[in-house]
Formats: sequence, C-alpha cells, structure tokens
Amino acid sequence: MELLSECQRMLRTELGHFAKASAAKTGKFPGTRSRPLLQQLRSERHYFSALPAAAVEEMRQLAEAHLAGFRENARQGRLRREDLSVNDGPAVQAIARILNREFDASGTLDAVSAYMGYPMMVGGLALELSVPQATWWANGLQGLPRPALTLYAHLDESITAPKSIVYLSAVEPCNGPTSCYPHAYEDLGIQPLQEIIGRVVGNVGNSMDSPLRAHYQKRYHQSVTSEPFRRHFMRLPPELRFNSHLGWDVLPDSELESALVARERVMTGPPGTLIVFDGARLFHRGGLMQQGERIALQVVFDQKPKLRSRIIGKIKRAIA
Ligand SMILES: [Fe+2]
Repeated sequence: MELLSECQRMLRTELGHFAKASAAKTGKFPGTRSRPLLQQLRSERHYFSALPAAAVEEMRQLAEAHLAGFRENARQGRLRREDLSVNDGPAVQAIARILNREFDASGTLDAVSAYMGYPMMVGGLALELSVPQATWWANGLQGLPRPALTLYAHLDESITAPKSIVYLSAVEPCNGPTSCYPHAYEDLGIQPLQEIIGRVVGNVGNSMDSPLRAHYQKRYHQSVTSEPFRRHFMRLPPELRFNSHLGWDVLPDSELESALVARERVMTGPPGTLIVFDGARLFHRGGLMQQGERIALQVVFDQKPKLRSRIIGKIKRAIA
C-alpha cells in the first residue's frame, strides 16, 4: 500500500509537469546563447561550466559567517547535515540572487527553461561544508571485501527539479569531488513503470507513521542495507524491480561496477566550477572526503513564479 501511494504521488507530479510543459511551449524557443547548453543537457543530461571569480568572491563573503559556524561544529565533532549546511536566511537568499543573475547572463536559465518546457529559475540552495570526518554515507553492505566504488551513486526522485552544484572552494580528487555517469541511466534500459517504482521505493518505511519503519530500521538513504527491506524488494516482479539509489547495490568487482566506473566523470576545479544536470536521469554522487574541506552550493532550479505571484510575494515581504 505504501509503495502504491508513493507511485500515485509521483505519477500526479509527473503528469502535471508534462501538462505544463506542453501548454507553455518554452522548449521551442531557446536563445542562441543557450542553444549549445540545451543540446548538452538533452544529450548528456548535464554540462560543466564556471562562474566568474568576482561572483564567487561575492558569494564567499556572504557565506563566511555560516562557514565559521560549520567549522566550529566540525571541530567539536558535530557532523550531522544540519551542523554543516544551511538552506535559508538572508545570506542564502542573497547568494540565490547572485546565482540567478549569473545564470541569466550565461544562458543557463534559458537552457534549463527550454529543457523543462517552462520558465525556470534558482528556487533554492544549500550552502554546505564537507569535512573528512563526516563519512556517514560511506558504509556499504556488510560482509563485502571492500565497499563498491560507486557508493552513493543515485538518481534523484523528482524529474521537475534540475540541479546545479557550484564549488566555492578549489576541489581536487581528495576533496570529495562530485561525479556523474553520463549515459549509465540510458544503458540500463529501465521501463517507465520500473523507473517510477525505482525512484520512490526507497521512501517505503521512512515516514514516522509507517508500520514498516521499525521493521526496516534503515540508515539514511540506505534501504538496501536493511535485510527486511531487501526481502520485500526482491518480492517485486523483476520487470518492476529497480532502486534509483543503485550505488549501494553494486557488488565490488562486478560487471556493473566496472561499467559505471568507465562512465564516471569527476568534476574537479577552482572555485566557481559547476555542473548543471538533470539528477533524475543522470546518475551522480558526491565523492569521499579524504582531506581538507569542500565548500559547495547545492542548487535546485524551480518553476519561475508567474509575474502576479511574484508581485504579491514582494508586497507580502514589504509589509511583513
Ligand atoms: Fe542527488
């Protein structure tokens, strides 16, 4: 029942997205500046780019007070996600405005809008500090000789929220670079129903009132490390079985592991380096932090509010 209601929720969202896209027709009119970006998004599901140094500097200054707090948390051993990241408040809003300005100038907003089929903008972001001590996600299945090289590789749940990851510090292979696996999703040849199940199956047993919650005892996003979850999952017919958090399912030295590793593209580079991607159709992951620190923005694009609701929003903020 839980899987069914998750699938129904997903279908409603996706049908709404396709209805909006066919009504808006934005996809047909990308500007010349954004056309190569759009082509890469369509064929590779991502592109790499970079922000000007001045914009990076502006954002670093806005982020500095939060970063000092995160470093202090890390020093004291507080390493939960909420100890090392922030996704609201004046600094985050100011950073979002800078990103919208830069993404507008570079053609990214036009490309993402054309890709989705309706006008898009930066809708939200998280400023995150990664440190080597935080290895909460680096444990794979128990009893294997080593963790798979693909740990944490996954597809995002939503097809309506393309993303960007922007580095605000230099990121080398040892600083947990973001990776993606172009065409790995297409290689799997997943059927539509299987895909919908795969994107939501990991939610089963997560809600506080789920009777399966205590039974599964999952760790964060790691459904497959729960033995009872695996047993239920394997009862699905093979043609419906898929888990979008596939990185944890891969066995070391398997064919799938080497196929994925061959596809992997690792994003390293100076501050300002970024990727824009469709996380629902491009496998991706954050790398394992070995040393130093990584400062990054996790950016989510969202549908641009209509002019009327933008004006009402502005008035509400002015009188609040
Ligand atoms: Fe993701």
